[in-house]
Amino acid sequence: MNNTTTEINSVADANHKAVTNTIFSPRFYTTDFEAMDKLNIEPVRAEWDAMMAEYEGDNNHDHFQRDATFADEARDLASKMSPELRQEFLDFLVSSLTSEFSGCVLYNEIKRNVTNPDIKQLMEYMARDESRHAGFINSSLKDYGLGIDLGDLKRTKKYTFFKPKYIFYATYLSEKIGYARYIRIFRQLEKHPEKRFHPIFRWFQRWCNDEFRHGESFALIMRANSNLLRGANVLWIRFFLLAVYATMYVRDHTRPELKQAMGLEPTEYDFDVFRITNEITRQVFPVLLDIDHPAFRANLDRLFTCSQRADEGLAAGGVLGYARKALWSVAGAAIFARMFFIPVISNRLPDTARMVPAW
Ligand SMILES: [Fe+2]
Ligand SMILES: [Fe+2]
Repeated sequence: MNNTTTEINSVADANHKAVTNTIFSPRFYTTDFEAMDKLNIEPVRAEWDAMMAEYEGDNNHDHFQRDATFADEARDLASKMSPELRQEFLDFLVSSLTSEFSGCVLYNEIKRNVTNPDIKQLMEYMARDESRHAGFINSSLKDYGLGIDLGDLKRTKKYTFFKPKYIFYATYLSEKIGYARYIRIFRQLEKHPEKRFHPIFRWFQRWCNDEFRHGESFALIMRANSNLLRGANVLWIRFFLLAVYATMYVRDHTRPELKQAMGLEPTEYDFDVFRITNEITRQVFPVLLDIDHPAFRANLDRLFTCSQRADEGLAAGGVLGYARKALWSVAGAAIFARMFFIPVISNRLPDTARMVPAW
């Protein structure tokens, strides 16, 4: 076992996992609220208003309630899970909950600290959705007696400051990749219901439509403020694309049981998700990562190896263990830097940004 998959056997373990920051775990963010307040979305007003009407219509208001069979189905299926799968599933629930709640906290904080009516209203809708998502996951953790104390998490987890533009790049991507991940899983289990080892996956389709829409919101904000998509900012976009893709790859390969139990091969799953995300990000990003470049795939594998070796060093402990961890972390950073220079694909933005979740 390594530090990214420390076992969860008690409610204290679950809460500890949620509050601890590692390079690969979801973080909490804070930002420059004054700059957020100054955002202007007039250049995309028509698309914006249509999107806000969708939020107001709230077509998922009744979705995040468990049906009568949920708890029984969860209990029955849990008794059939191997201990390894159970651990990876719990890890998945805790990290997904942390990331949903991270969105909820950030969107709420922005809402409380701005007066700009467009931004305030948007943040209120997104916080509403993320709070439902987090609560829904937490009820599944509570079935195992492992509920996360969200109030405590909000107070004690460290916050990372990100300038608004970094929030836009990172959050846009995490919403869209979140959509791609959930819909790929949903489609797989639709075809192979016998591999659905927990009822929560039945909720994924309508759930990820919320994430898709959250991503649309950030796409419109960036399209309206097009300086965010030009010049040196393009390098930041490349950086965030690579960071998000690489993090996902390493995490998914660190816990392969989860995908395998669904009949998915982790590398193939990740490349499907990259492909979907690449297609979606054409709505806003002037560049796409060349995921079919041979060096892209090879270096992802090297990155995963470095992460494994670094974790082994950490687990071994002592001066030598820490030295090993440090060396492998530097090696990982060097590979990441090399990947940054793999040529990207340039993309001409479409006239309008909005897309529908059609995968
Ligand atoms: Fe969410
Ligand atoms: Fe979201």
